[in-house]
Amino acid sequence: MADLSCKYLGLQLKNPIVVGSSGLTSSLENVKQISQMGAGAVVLKSIFEEQIRFETDKFLQSDKKEMKSWQDTFQQIVSKTEFYYDEAYDYLTNYAREHTLNQYLSLISDAKKEIDIPVIASINCSTSNDWQYFTKRIQEAGADAIELNVYLLPSDFEKSGNDHEKVYFEIIEEVKKYATIPISLKIGYYFSSLSQTALKLSETGIAGLTLFNRPYNPDIDIEHLQVNASNMFSNDNEYMHTLRWVALLAGKLSCDIAASTGIHNHETVIKQILAGADVVHMVSVFYKHHFDILPQIISGVNSWMDQHNFRSISDFKGMLSRKNVQNPATYERVQFLRIFSSVE
Ligand SMILES: Cc1cc2nc3c(=O)[nH]c(=O)nc-3n(C[C@H](O)[C@H](O)[C@H](O)COP(=O)(O)O)c2cc1C
Repeated sequence: MADLSCKYLGLQLKNPIVVGSSGLTSSLENVKQISQMGAGAVVLKSIFEEQIRFETDKFLQSDKKEMKSWQDTFQQIVSKTEFYYDEAYDYLTNYAREHTLNQYLSLISDAKKEIDIPVIASINCSTSNDWQYFTKRIQEAGADAIELNVYLLPSDFEKSGNDHEKVYFEIIEEVKKYATIPISLKIGYYFSSLSQTALKLSETGIAGLTLFNRPYNPDIDIEHLQVNASNMFSNDNEYMHTLRWVALLAGKLSCDIAASTGIHNHETVIKQILAGADVVHMVSVFYKHHFDILPQIISGVNSWMDQHNFRSISDFKGMLSRKNVQNPATYERVQFLRIFSSVE
């Protein structure tokens, strides 16, 4: 039997298959199943910066509307304590924020008690506010690492590429001040110079880069003349975009690489590792087949390694990265001039 164990974010994994962040990783029950079915690690559902703000606002709004006494309560806090108005407001805001965060912290600490694979917490952030506070709490709850899920659409005509990219660096800088556990960053691919930005991001001290989050894309319904959501889940042929970038960046970055999007079977797990990924994150396939498919994927990788006489993951990781192939142009080419010219 081949040895599938590997290191990711400095953590020891029994295999490179990570169940990525999604609604499926938001309950203890699912997280336990993920572990039982043999995954190498799990990334919990992201806690959203907006979600905390929204819950906090909702809490304050509902108190204002439903309880006439809210104003009284508020006044009592102000009058019974030494608080000024702003301080009392901060007190209630912090209370609401704490409540939302506590649910997430319980999931982390319960998961750590119940399972023995690494538990990676995830924060969806769009600004560099407050993350020092959340980071500390998340690591105190026992998370093994934190994945920062940052996906900014550069759609603002007033902002340059630099303006957008700056935010990623600011967030990392803030979180890094307080994190003692490894940090990884999950990104999309909307960068003007993806290779250079990925390189610079990897040099900030993050332990891993996850390529790529899959964007929600709108679609248009031409019968009802309205804008709809497109397919929420990836297909099994969507892995190639990630494959190219994993291959281009492997061996160049100062951090691990996790491949994400369109990885649905053992063949694509193997391809991503051959291209240079340290691990893969898989999500949509579990919405389609649930976690029962995990042992099959793991044994598929195992059999393939046996057939090819690879004893460990490092025997073939990056073997077909851009750096290691004889014709690197295959990864750089974006137009099929010769092929198209022969297609009638
Ligand atoms: C329903 C759903 C919810 C998701 N929620 C999150 C999330 O909270 N945080 C995150 O970083 N990614 C989230 N993702 C993105 C996935 O982690 C993953 O990057 C993406 O789906 C591509 O992988 P796949 O092709 O294996 O699905 C979500 C994806 C789906 C389908």
